[in-house]
Amino acid sequence: MRYNFDLIINRRNTNSVKWDSSQEDILPMWVADMDFRTADPIIQALEKRVQHGIFGYASIPDAYYEAEVSWWAKRHHFKIKKEWIEISTGVIPSLSAVVQAFTEPGDKVLIQSPVYNYFNSSITNNRCEIVRNELKYNGESYEIDFEDFEQKASDEKVKVFIFCNPHNPVGRVWSRNELQRLGEICLKYNVLVVVDEIHRDLIYRGSKHIPFASVSELCLMNSITCTAPSKTFNLAGLKTSNIIVANEEYRKKVNRSLNINEAIEPNAFGIEALIAAYNEGEEWLDQLLDYLQGNRDYLISFINERIPELKVVIPEATYLVWMDCSSLGIGSKELCNKIFEDGRLRINDGSAYGETGEGFIRMNIACPRAFLVEGMERLEGVVKSTYLKTEMEEIR
Ligand SMILES: Cc1ncc(COP(=O)(O)O)c(C=O)c1O
Repeated sequence: MRYNFDLIINRRNTNSVKWDSSQEDILPMWVADMDFRTADPIIQALEKRVQHGIFGYASIPDAYYEAEVSWWAKRHHFKIKKEWIEISTGVIPSLSAVVQAFTEPGDKVLIQSPVYNYFNSSITNNRCEIVRNELKYNGESYEIDFEDFEQKASDEKVKVFIFCNPHNPVGRVWSRNELQRLGEICLKYNVLVVVDEIHRDLIYRGSKHIPFASVSELCLMNSITCTAPSKTFNLAGLKTSNIIVANEEYRKKVNRSLNINEAIEPNAFGIEALIAAYNEGEEWLDQLLDYLQGNRDYLISFINERIPELKVVIPEATYLVWMDCSSLGIGSKELCNKIFEDGRLRINDGSAYGETGEGFIRMNIACPRAFLVEGMERLEGVVKSTYLKTEMEEIR
């Protein structure tokens, strides 16, 4: 069937973090969920479950594991085993549980900034220190500074590396060669690789996601991979995610830690949604990817033609677009405040993702095209007034 991603659905008054946390006239293009209705088979499966009318504690059926295994095989060409799967209420609870299981307070955890900011709390809440391997911005896209990475990984206090594959917010899909080099360095210094692959299905044409664990047997056995259907199918509120751990010794530790944190109880609706998504959601996803591609390309043309003061870091993955606003000469926090106050548009301030995110903004483009057009016009209005004002101040 043909899905209509242009359809505008009012999300106000649905307890939506994105829509209900700011005034009515604010257009929200920030937190990472989508303004699209999910795939019909998922809605039907949930409706069927609702009709039963009893929502007691749930157990995980075989069909759930089979759906997860089959998704890995058909979308990512990687054969995982059912017994490698641990379930959890979310990727962030999983990361916290893993950090807790594999570190002692005072240990260090490596990340690559700028990066999704909740990694920080998973580390510091476990009384560990954050060590940053800053990604290198070459004016167009981001690369890994391997020399710096190796030097940081060689610190014997560094026990875990939390790796974002593909990367939020810089939009990189890491190559096999990059994955391999990271894997080799981590193995050399006994650093466990915890891979966040929550955005793995949202890849633009021309790029291909490679699961870190699929690169080699060594990568597989020295890694823990966190995934979820939540970003792909817009199911974040259902609190259902999986952790893939091939190494049996690690798996026991992860399971114990999830239990200690009570993050392992399944959500009755999440189970049904995941099964339907992974068994019957491909048609919807392929159409979503075409639509997102159109949104991404629209944004790139708009910026190039109408707001050339900004520069798009063209994403290879994710519906989150990272833009360089450093030429405006004002801090990204101040710019976001202006965009919010004057433009009535809510986007993310890049500095929230680490110091090197200063001078950048992040915009969520997973919305009907009409919202994107409106958002771009609001952004243009603020940038033009801010930019012109700065120029005039310089003249004075
Ligand atoms: C890289 C990354 N990891 C994890 C999450 C959140 O995952 P969860 O809602 O399953 O805790 C997000 C949400 O934006 C994300 O971008």
